[in-house]
Amino acid sequence: MPSKTPPVNSESHTASAHSVAQTTLKSIAKMARQGHRFACLTCYDATTARWLEAAGVHLLLVGDTAGEVVLGFPSTIHTPLDFLVTLTAGVKRGAPRTVVMADMPFMSYQADDAEGVRNAGRFMTEGLADIVKLEVDRSFAPLVAKMARAGIPVVAHIGSRPQHAKLHGGYYAAGKTAASALALVDDARAMIDAGASMLLVEAAPVEVTEEIVRVSTIPVIGCGAGPTCHGQVIVLHDLLGMTHWQPAFALPSAQVGQQIKEAASGWIERVASGDLGVHPYVMPDAERAEFLRVTTRSPRLASTTEPKG
Ligand code: KIV
Repeated sequence: MPSKTPPVNSESHTASAHSVAQTTLKSIAKMARQGHRFACLTCYDATTARWLEAAGVHLLLVGDTAGEVVLGFPSTIHTPLDFLVTLTAGVKRGAPRTVVMADMPFMSYQADDAEGVRNAGRFMTEGLADIVKLEVDRSFAPLVAKMARAGIPVVAHIGSRPQHAKLHGGYYAAGKTAASALALVDDARAMIDAGASMLLVEAAPVEVTEEIVRVSTIPVIGCGAGPTCHGQVIVLHDLLGMTHWQPAFALPSAQVGQQIKEAASGWIERVASGDLGVHPYVMPDAERAEFLRVTTRSPRLASTTEPKG
């Protein structure tokens, strides 16, 4: 919360992004062309976005995983549209120099193309997004073309599509047979032809991703799709060690969950012992004297902490 007390963080530990270069869709495409891999993480709030921008993360994804991570739903299909639009704007306010990708949630684009384009537009205007992501196959090419025509950059998320998990009886990997691998490469081609600005391939074998990267004229982000991709994305809470389970390609680099637990235990002890640090709010002497003069004369009220009856 905002406080007038000076921050205890030293300059090198603040979330200041002054020295961080601005990323744009163009700069990311340039990195991909030049063989410099870019890093993407999910992010769901402005404060975390500030830290991730300060670290130099190139792209932030406000994923529909917010429904699981932030709201505690069992899968991403429950993530509400308005909620994601609001989170996206918060992330962009926290990381104004970083490309922010908004995930279009289940049923915000599947039922009707016009509704999909309008909802994508909301992410761009209300949500301040730089690009939107849809889980698609080649049958969505007309929708992607309509979005591109409207000036909305699209990340085409192909391969494993968590919004289809119910249809597949759970989360699944894509392209594990020759036929489905060829179909996945066709999906990629169709999305490029439709005008997508980037591809995101989730949960696919390395050979399939390699072929997609080989044929692609746009940056390819991988999520469990092997190291060939131009960029990589994982869920931030997996990286931070805050989830109970992480996929093998998203092993934690920190144990923030454990640190939260330790900090919270420490706070419980400090509250119990009254160790709250230096109290910052002080009455001027004359005001204190007047306050004490009046209160010491007024009759005591019955204690509210004593049991009644
Ligand atoms: O919503 C999300 O977090 C995602 C990534 C895991 C790719 O779509």
